[in-house]
Amino acid sequence: MSRKVLVAYATKMGATAGIAEAIGAELERGGHQVDVREVGKVNSIEEYDVVVLGSALYTRRWRPEAVRFLRKHSDELRERQVWLFHSGPVGPDKDQPQAMPGKVERLAHRIGATAATTFGGRLEPATAKGFLAERMARSDIAGDSRDWETIRAWAADVSAAVHAIEAAPWNRHIS
Ligand SMILES: Cc1cc2nc3c(=O)[nH]c(=O)nc-3n(C[C@H](O)[C@H](O)[C@H](O)COP(=O)(O)O)c2cc1C
Repeated sequence: MSRKVLVAYATKMGATAGIAEAIGAELERGGHQVDVREVGKVNSIEEYDVVVLGSALYTRRWRPEAVRFLRKHSDELRERQVWLFHSGPVGPDKDQPQAMPGKVERLAHRIGATAATTFGGRLEPATAKGFLAERMARSDIAGDSRDWETIRAWAADVSAAVHAIEAAPWNRHIS
């Protein structure tokens, strides 16, 4: 039996979309049915058993559309398996886990999700949008710090956890 998984992402400059696609591909390899969608375009999560949600970090906050999604669907999310990630650090801090913003932490607690995993981000002149991003992308912290091996390994863990839960005796009735 495979489960239907939504991988939803919030991005401004495209880097988090790339991470979401890589997670989706790994989950598909693990035998799940997967939709990878921009979170602002998701109206309903009824058809999904599992939700993976990721946001880019800007000034230590999640993108508003990702926070809105968590808030709007918190009752339904509480009844589903949910994994969270965020992406941002580049340069020397690229491997530093980032704290969940307070609002996100409270919502994660409400829905019973564990802390968000941090993945490195990307800040490059070719993709930077906006004055500040363009300036930062020309500095010495610029670059693509997304570590595809780490991202795929995390997605493989999620995939295995989803299989483990569907195989649990108390879930047999849904197979
Ligand atoms: C103005 C600005 C603020 C940022 N603030 C943070 C931050 O607080 N924490 C962090 O880890 N990364 C921060 N970043 C880096 C971005 O999160 C990183 O570039 C990310 O990969 C962008 O994702 P996106 O392309 O999906 O929008 C910031 C970048 C910019 C341009």
